[in-house]
Amino acid sequence: MKTYSIRELKPGMKVAESVYTTKGQLVLEAGTILTTALIARLSFYGIYSANIADAEAASQTAAAPKAMPETVAPNPSRASNPSYSQKVKATPEFINYQIEYNKKTSVIRDVFDQILNHPDATIDTQRVLQECSSLISMCKTTVDLFDKIHNMRLDDDSVYSHCLNVALIARMMGKWMHFSDEDRDILTLCGIFHDIGKTSIPDEILNKPEKYTDEEFMLIQSHPTLGYEILKDLPIDERIKKAALMHHERSDGSGYPQKLKADEIDDFAEIIAIADVYDAMTAARSYRSPLCPFQAISMFEKDGLQLYGPKYILTFLNRIASTYQNNRVLLNNGQSANIVMINTKHLTRPMVQLDDGTVVDMLNLPEWEIIKII
Ligand SMILES: [Fe+2]
Repeated sequence: MKTYSIRELKPGMKVAESVYTTKGQLVLEAGTILTTALIARLSFYGIYSANIADAEAASQTAAAPKAMPETVAPNPSRASNPSYSQKVKATPEFINYQIEYNKKTSVIRDVFDQILNHPDATIDTQRVLQECSSLISMCKTTVDLFDKIHNMRLDDDSVYSHCLNVALIARMMGKWMHFSDEDRDILTLCGIFHDIGKTSIPDEILNKPEKYTDEEFMLIQSHPTLGYEILKDLPIDERIKKAALMHHERSDGSGYPQKLKADEIDDFAEIIAIADVYDAMTAARSYRSPLCPFQAISMFEKDGLQLYGPKYILTFLNRIASTYQNNRVLLNNGQSANIVMINTKHLTRPMVQLDDGTVVDMLNLPEWEIIKII
């Protein structure tokens, strides 16, 4: 048995010891074979390592899968087709977006550097906001925006890229919740600056592929406090400072650094927490395609209400699911289908039309799951 950090875990590895949250809730049972969705489940709970049985670990490390393994029988016609993620990345729109995105992350890097090195200088928040708005305006639809967000982190997994994604997701959430333009701007800036504390942590530790030592883990967990210290004297909205400090707090008190409970966490920090975890779960990784949004929604539906602000999480999940109406999906039984109608009470169980024309209600088929957008 060996302990692996979350970044080393691969689909197919066997969990040697059950994994629990700090509150004692079972997350993974001993003997479970890891899948992409289960690894994402660990991120969801803020768990960064797991003990893996030796034989499986060795074989998986030797032949680490580059893409998410299918949980269905191989289909030769599908196997020769590019994945949805590959299709998105091959479009001229994505390539243009990628060029612009890289320019925006450079702007964020410059702004962070300016704050860290010249704390008395004026921060050009308007420029940062314009950069975010221009990226959103490059996307034709919400699905298009989220597709691009999910696929950018493979090429650039920097703090700046994550902050930009969280800002874009948070800005959309502000729109869905009918916030004023001013509040949407503040929320966007909360996303941009939420992880600025990570710039005080050496890259060798942030990007370390192996499991963190206890000291390193404590240092990583101090990034909200470090971020707050960097921002606290700047002439910016208090909610931006609180989002940096509180975005890892959870409603049930299981978060950090202060173990705050629901009513003690700032509203904007609660929204950033959702955008942060959603980006972490759905971003593409070198060893897997982006996690299917329906798998992410399923995790939030199952365990999200006790961890995240209900008024925000429900709107968020509803809107995310609705954006995939009419999209084509792959089911865990190997069939492909089109989403005909989202069930607002059971977001991961829509009505779907199979390729033979049959319309089925997934609410009546609990064993069926959507595993991929295709
Ligand atoms: Fe963070």
